[in-house]
Amino acid sequence: MTGTLELYEGAFWRDPYPAFSVLRAEAPAHEVHLPDGSAWIITRYADVRSALTDPRFSKDWRYTLPPEARADAPANPLPMMILMDPPGHTRLRKLVSRSFTARRMAELRPQVRRYAEELLDALPAGDQVDLMAHYASLLPVRVICELLGIPETDREQFSAWTRTMLDETSQAESQAASGEMSAYFGRLVEVKRAQPDDALLSALVEVSDDGDRLSAEELVAMAMLLLIAGHETTVNLIGNGTFGLLTHPDQLAMLRERSDLLGAAVEEFLRWDAPVQSPPVRFLSEDVEIGEVTVPAGAIVMLSLAAANRDPEQFPDPDELKIDRDTSGQVAFGYGLHFCLGAQLARIEGQEAFAALLARFPDISLAVEPEELVHRRSTLVRGLTELPVRLSPAPV
Ligand code: HEM
Repeated sequence: MTGTLELYEGAFWRDPYPAFSVLRAEAPAHEVHLPDGSAWIITRYADVRSALTDPRFSKDWRYTLPPEARADAPANPLPMMILMDPPGHTRLRKLVSRSFTARRMAELRPQVRRYAEELLDALPAGDQVDLMAHYASLLPVRVICELLGIPETDREQFSAWTRTMLDETSQAESQAASGEMSAYFGRLVEVKRAQPDDALLSALVEVSDDGDRLSAEELVAMAMLLLIAGHETTVNLIGNGTFGLLTHPDQLAMLRERSDLLGAAVEEFLRWDAPVQSPPVRFLSEDVEIGEVTVPAGAIVMLSLAAANRDPEQFPDPDELKIDRDTSGQVAFGYGLHFCLGAQLARIEGQEAFAALLARFPDISLAVEPEELVHRRSTLVRGLTELPVRLSPAPV
């Protein structure tokens, strides 16, 4: 049956939810064939959530090798915690959590609002504008660069690098972009060591835990991870959420009337169209039985957060966007050990971005038919390439 389904091709990119719905109903795990090889996909909420805390779903790619070949194989080229299991992950997460505090994030809120307003001030003239290019993709970049302390003159090149690394480009291109970014951060870490400032990268250079510190290589990997994670995710929360509101006028009207629903609305956007549709893949350290299916040791496994968030067993009428629904348990930020480190920041960014946009443009509407919009072709992130809107601002 799944053989006839379009998965990661064709109409799937525009709307993957009908396919996810079939997969969820059919079996707890399916083997799928992707351009890079085959993988398994898990789509039911309960299974995705339990896999996220199951140590047999490892981040170590070497489980794909025969046991005798593992010892000599290199770990990931970059020591990024999102690609590591305990105890390496635990150590890095503990170190970075010391600087990435709830307080530091909350203090950013007024600044985030100011950036959102500045970007809206700077929208190109004319009644129609691509909100992805001029708003959704600029705000998170500005926030993460500011948070890390990346000089303004260096920022433009990042979008090209991160995009090349995440989208369906060639492996050579992706490695080249990763190499350039890593060389850049290597130089920046040295600058911060010589001239510390108040931003996060300096704090990470200084951070220590009982004398344990991040090595130069780990600092570079952490900076890259934060930059990619901060770049490519919140963009799509803003884009997908705006698309949701503009195609559901009743929900848009409700949000305009009830600003107390802003926080709940952001959670619902995350549930309804998860910006990270599947986090980086897992590798099975041994055979795992999921319901009636045995997924073999060494399998590459995608945990579909997007499908889990639309599971009717967990969320009634899952395909409906309802900004006042109970979204508790939604897994857009993952779950367990690797739960998104930036969740609080992302929520603040989303809330401020929507608040500023709606306050500024009482008549905002889609400038094209929803079917004309094009989604990115990435197994990781889910988002629009462009979002043309009509702003028709109210006369001042
Ligand atoms: C709407 C926006 C965001 C979404 C939907 C999102 C989603 C996720 C998800 C699903 C994971 C878990 C990955 C896994 O289990 O393999 C994750 C991890 C992570 N996220 Fe986010 N993220 C967002 C924004 C951010 C931001 C703004 C930052 C940084 C400033 C960030 C930093 C991280 C980091 C460092 C990890 C790795 C945590 C670990 O391995 O322990 N994220 N994120």
